[in-house]
Amino acid sequence: MCGIVGYTGSNPALFPLLQGLERLEYRGYDSAGVALIEDGKIVVEKKVGKIRELIRSLWGKEFRGTVGIGHTRWATHGEVCELNAHPHTDSKGEFAVVHNGIIENYREIKEELQKLGIEYKSNTDTEAIVHLVALNYEGDLLKAVLKTIKKLKGAYAFAVISNRERGRIVAVRYGSPLVVGIGKGENFIASDIPALLPFTRDVIPLEDGEVVDLRPDGVLVYNFDGQLITKEVMHVPWDIISAEKGGFKHFMLKEIFEQPRTLGDTIRGYISRDLKLPFSLKDFRRILIVACGTSYHAGLVGKYWIEKHLGVPVEVAYASEVRYAHIPIGEKDLVIAVSQSGETADTRFSALAMKEKGATLLSIVNVMGSALDRESDYTLYTHAGPEIGVAATKTFTAQLAVLYALALSQGENSSRDMENLLEIPRMVEEVLSAHEKIKDLAIKYANYKNFLYLGRYLSYPVALEGALKLKEISYIHAEGYPAGEMKHGPIALIDEKTPTVVVAPADRVYEKILSNIEEVLARKGKVIGVGFEKDEKLRSLCDAVMEVPQVEEDLTPFLTTVPLQLFAYYIADYLGLDVDQPRNLAKTVTVE
Ligand code: G6P
Repeated sequence: MCGIVGYTGSNPALFPLLQGLERLEYRGYDSAGVALIEDGKIVVEKKVGKIRELIRSLWGKEFRGTVGIGHTRWATHGEVCELNAHPHTDSKGEFAVVHNGIIENYREIKEELQKLGIEYKSNTDTEAIVHLVALNYEGDLLKAVLKTIKKLKGAYAFAVISNRERGRIVAVRYGSPLVVGIGKGENFIASDIPALLPFTRDVIPLEDGEVVDLRPDGVLVYNFDGQLITKEVMHVPWDIISAEKGGFKHFMLKEIFEQPRTLGDTIRGYISRDLKLPFSLKDFRRILIVACGTSYHAGLVGKYWIEKHLGVPVEVAYASEVRYAHIPIGEKDLVIAVSQSGETADTRFSALAMKEKGATLLSIVNVMGSALDRESDYTLYTHAGPEIGVAATKTFTAQLAVLYALALSQGENSSRDMENLLEIPRMVEEVLSAHEKIKDLAIKYANYKNFLYLGRYLSYPVALEGALKLKEISYIHAEGYPAGEMKHGPIALIDEKTPTVVVAPADRVYEKILSNIEEVLARKGKVIGVGFEKDEKLRSLCDAVMEVPQVEEDLTPFLTTVPLQLFAYYIADYLGLDVDQPRNLAKTVTVE
């Protein structure tokens, strides 16, 4: 995985590189580095840790180079250390490369290089690229790169500079994202659009199998055979303000609090105009939803809604699990790929494999112009704006909004359901207004080491999502489980040291879940409920209840999710953890 950036222009390159990297840190933050051409020589600066460590190490040094590349790493091959940090250079220090993805055949290449007497310094797959480019170089960087990619196997994006070709960056996209930013007398590349937004909103998202030749005064895109391709420039509608913290301590908190607006935007968008699909979901034999992480949980909720309103059977699968399974799928099936980034490798490649077998591919993505967006037959966007916190929050509820609107728009919907949906943003606002109470509760529970999260029916995926949030940012073990299944195993975990969070709005399974709560209490477990306000029965059973306004059963996930996001956030913040960039994680996972 990782994030890459590049700048060529007439201004010092360091500033746009560092600013771009800070906006890509969500893609990994094990180490960071830049390479610049200074007085005809490649200078590399790298540091273990976050971008701020790199910035600290650059303090007081002057860099005037006007072309450079940068990288923030999420380690795949080779431990986290300075040696393995990018950029990597060839033996003579004439070429530097930054890379995102995996070169699967790097061991063979490494052996060949070593036979040629080339010293391989790091434990990375990346270093293979730079030595190959140096070997293939005969006075033209583009040609050297085109020759190099013929040798590479895997999914990757990389960018190369050379001190023998001032002002030039050559970059490649093959399976990992890469976007070109068009400026005036300067041009950029980056793994993702937010890194470009401080400098330009005119972008060219590259497709897999494309190579870009970047100079201050022009951008040329080629295919892997070296033939020139015509590309259209896209103007990005997001404004930069939405990528700033806006007075909140963390992006995650800001994004949680943005939900009334992002939900409003998504819901209004779909109710008024955007949901025109040239087919009905009912035309399909079945629907398969593929996704990862939080998006998978949104898919699980979507299943209940689509089956209820449309009567079409829906399966929800982890993308990484279906990718290599023998799934019978064909023209009569619809695949819905749910992905915030639209770049998650497992989701993309499993969905594409099904599309190849004849299924129709509909995607729900947040990032316009992302790979999945471009590769799908149809796309529905979540209008949540850029999400920077690694733990997904506002994009989850926006995904729910799209899935619910989809189920309603093609089902026997009553206009009353639509009207109820329009009330959701206001109700989420109400839930958020109780944040201080949730904070107090979170602090009270912050030192427990294990949690169980239970829910049934629509609240089961909500429980899974609540547990995932806690795990991701607080590193506390939290197990999400269907409440009815608890008696078949997890009940053995319950004691006074393992609190159970139970999502229990008064819906069709309310009485059942109250019984599940009793089962926990009977084993001396503490219960934190999430339920409707003024629910005295629930209050009487629970140690504490995080309350949400009463709504129709269908709409409960929109509300019950929010206190769980806040609960996880406040625990992690109380423990002094890095909420926006939790250890070992990355927001966009472009490796399998
Ligand atoms: C990573 C992120 C999660 C996210 C998952 C799927 O693991 O840390 O927050 O849910 O990827 O990402 P996607 O962009 O496909 O929704």
